[in-house]
Amino acid sequence: MSYLQEVVTTVRGAGDQLFKTSCINKIIDKGSVENYVTNVDLQIEQRLREELGALIPEADFIGEESNSKNASSEYAWIVDPIDGTANFVRGIKECCISVGLVKNGNPVLGVVYAPWLCEMYAAEEGCGATLNGEKIVTSKRDFRTAIHYMSSSSYNKDKADDMVGFIKWILPTIEDVRRFGSAAMALCNIAAGRIETYFVQGIYPWDICAGLCILKEAGGNYLFHSEEVDVWKEQSDLMAANSNLNLEQLYSAYDMYYNITH
Ligand code: IPD
Ligand code: CA
Repeated sequence: MSYLQEVVTTVRGAGDQLFKTSCINKIIDKGSVENYVTNVDLQIEQRLREELGALIPEADFIGEESNSKNASSEYAWIVDPIDGTANFVRGIKECCISVGLVKNGNPVLGVVYAPWLCEMYAAEEGCGATLNGEKIVTSKRDFRTAIHYMSSSSYNKDKADDMVGFIKWILPTIEDVRRFGSAAMALCNIAAGRIETYFVQGIYPWDICAGLCILKEAGGNYLFHSEEVDVWKEQSDLMAANSNLNLEQLYSAYDMYYNITH
């Protein structure tokens, strides 16, 4: 049974009726200067929880702004009402709603909607990935001509030396680096053939679940660089790329860098 069209309709509704039109009238501190949530994030999550819950009543719901982080059922929705909240409050267009569906631990459906960019990414396991209804595939660029998406995780500033040091290390071996401020959009940009590689440390499941399904269905691949972590419940380290070869090269480059610097 396919849920994709219903999820696309649900996410588009939340994007067009809440993300695009609601006023940000509350910014709630979640414990640090970098970590906050707006009334719009909360409204979107509440709506998605109700509508997705009606679609598969037995599925668990893991949302960034919800208290329940438990997934023990066959299905779990993994939802970020706004990925790139810091961009959202500043009016930077690179932010989105991200809805993933995990079945027995595997991401089987992903919908990422960036309302301000008018970009709707959608994928279901085995059916390919689309952007606004058109099929997308990852680029064929090799490592030397890759654009690498860097992540300076704002919540994990203790990792800054490692992350910035790694960028300095790989820069001479690739074309360039970018940073947009949304993990979901990073994965979708690889899926759409715009950029090639991505490495992020300490990322949450709701930031990546939908994007990983979309990336895989567009021909890309990923690996978790963290040991013994339940990636749908905890923070993990993720590497993603347009091709298996570039994923291997990214892994080797970090391995070499890590062994020299630690
Ligand atoms: C953040 C974004 C950002 C990543 C952070 C995430 P949020 O999500 O995806 O790119 O570096 O680690 O937490 O907080 O805006 O939903
Ligand atoms: Ca968020």
